[in-house]
Amino acid sequence: MLNLKSYKSVSESIDLVKYMGGFPAEYEIVVAPPLLSLYSLSINQKMNLHLCAQNFSPVADYGAHTGSVLIKDLKSLGCEYSVIGHSEVRRPNGDMPGETDALISHKLELCIKNNVIPVLCFGETFEEKSGGNTENVVRKQLSAVNKIKPDYMVLAYEPVWAISSNKGSSNCKVGYVEHIASLITDIVPKSMKYKFLYGGSVDSKNISEYLSSSYIDGVLIGKASTEKESLESIKKELKAIPTNKM
Ligand code: PGA
Repeated sequence: MLNLKSYKSVSESIDLVKYMGGFPAEYEIVVAPPLLSLYSLSINQKMNLHLCAQNFSPVADYGAHTGSVLIKDLKSLGCEYSVIGHSEVRRPNGDMPGETDALISHKLELCIKNNVIPVLCFGETFEEKSGGNTENVVRKQLSAVNKIKPDYMVLAYEPVWAISSNKGSSNCKVGYVEHIASLITDIVPKSMKYKFLYGGSVDSKNISEYLSSSYIDGVLIGKASTEKESLESIKKELKAIPTNKM
């Protein structure tokens, strides 16, 4: 899964997504481009890619909501998925508060109502990890899942300390990701089907390590999905390890 964030302009992002053919057919390739590029991409979609929104507004329906982007419109533009709860939206930004677990829970509900598969990101900060609080943080960030109990969703473990754009970020060891994968089997409802992804500094050098793990159903790639050269190297790696992952 490729999260282009806001690294590029709308037209550059459209160009990049159009370049994303040629991944091995065994993979489900999901791409989350900037929201404003979705209109053009949805009407030009000929590739074997699945579209994903990076986020959306909390309002449920049309009305007097200045500046809102509705999930129902994103769905009609072809988004099968939407990211929710990414650490970059949970984090306060200057005077702007970050999104709370309550808001993310509401967005989870909106995804389900609109038939969009939620990709719920969760993961601890460096300080939370060092303080031995990882499990508490993971439980808290996933509490919405127990309340809403979707039939199916994607859970993306993205430790904040491993995301490439964060200062001093370092790779998360596969064994540690596997530990989190086991931990969440006791947290989420037993009846719920889900895919477990890992995200945080994934690139062509380490992708095969993560995808070789039977605990990990796919990877969420940020920075390394925003340049053609690194996309080419990732494609090459995937060809060498054909699996049914995303
Ligand atoms: P990164 O971002 O691959 O640049 O670390 C991952 C993410 O934040 O989704």
